[in-house]
Amino acid sequence: MDLDKILAVTFSGVRPGEVNTVMALLEEGDLHSGDLSREKLRHFLVARKGDAVIGVVGLEVFPPHGLLRSLAVVEPYRGQGIARRLIGAIERHARNVGVRSIYLLTLTAAGLFEKCAYRQVRRESAPEDLQATEEFKTICPDSAICLHKAV
Ligand SMILES: CC(C)(COP(=O)(O)OP(=O)(O)OC[C@H]1O[C@@H](n2cnc3c(N)ncnc32)[C@H](O)[C@@H]1OP(=O)(O)O)[C@@H](O)C(=O)NCCC(=O)NCCS
Repeated sequence: MDLDKILAVTFSGVRPGEVNTVMALLEEGDLHSGDLSREKLRHFLVARKGDAVIGVVGLEVFPPHGLLRSLAVVEPYRGQGIARRLIGAIERHARNVGVRSIYLLTLTAAGLFEKCAYRQVRRESAPEDLQATEEFKTICPDSAICLHKAV
C-alpha cells in the first residue's frame, strides 16, 4: 500500500521538534532563515503528510498589515498545489490575528502569487512597519517584486 497517496495533506503551526526541519527547508529553497526567532515562528504554518513536513509559509504580523514570507515546498511535492494551499492557510491565519492586508516581496514566484489574486504594487507603497522589516531593509534586493492582497 502506498501510504503517501493515502495520507491527506494537513496544515498547522510549527511543532517545537520541527524547527530544524523548517530551517533546512528554507535553506534548500534558497530562502533566508537567519532572522527567525521563536516569536516569529508563532506565525508560521507547515504542510504535513502524516508527520513529515512538506512545506512552510510564514507571516510577520503588524495588524492590520502582514508580510508573507518563507514560502517553500519540498521538491518531490512541488507542482501539486501545495504552495497555493499554504497561501490560503496563511491568509486564514492572518484574518484570525487581525491582518486584513498582506504584502510580500519575491524574486522568483510573482506568477504564483498573481494566480492567488495578489497584485503588483510599488515597494514604496507598503506600510512603514513592513518597510522596517529585515525582508524589506536587507534581505530582498531592489529588483524583488512587491505584491499585495486584501484578505
Ligand atoms: C515556489 C514554490 C513554493 C511553489 O510550490 P508548488 O507547491 O510547486 O506550487 P503550486 O503547485 O501550488 O503552484 C500553484 C500554481 O502556481 C504556479 N507556480 C508555481 N511556482 C511558480 C513560480 N515560481 N512562478 C510562477 N508560477 C508558479 C504553478 O504552475 C501553479 O499554476 P496552475 O495552478 O495554473 O497549475 C516551490 O517551487 C519552492 O519551494 N521553490 C523554492 C522556494 C521559493 O522560491 N519560494 C518562493 C519565495 S517567494
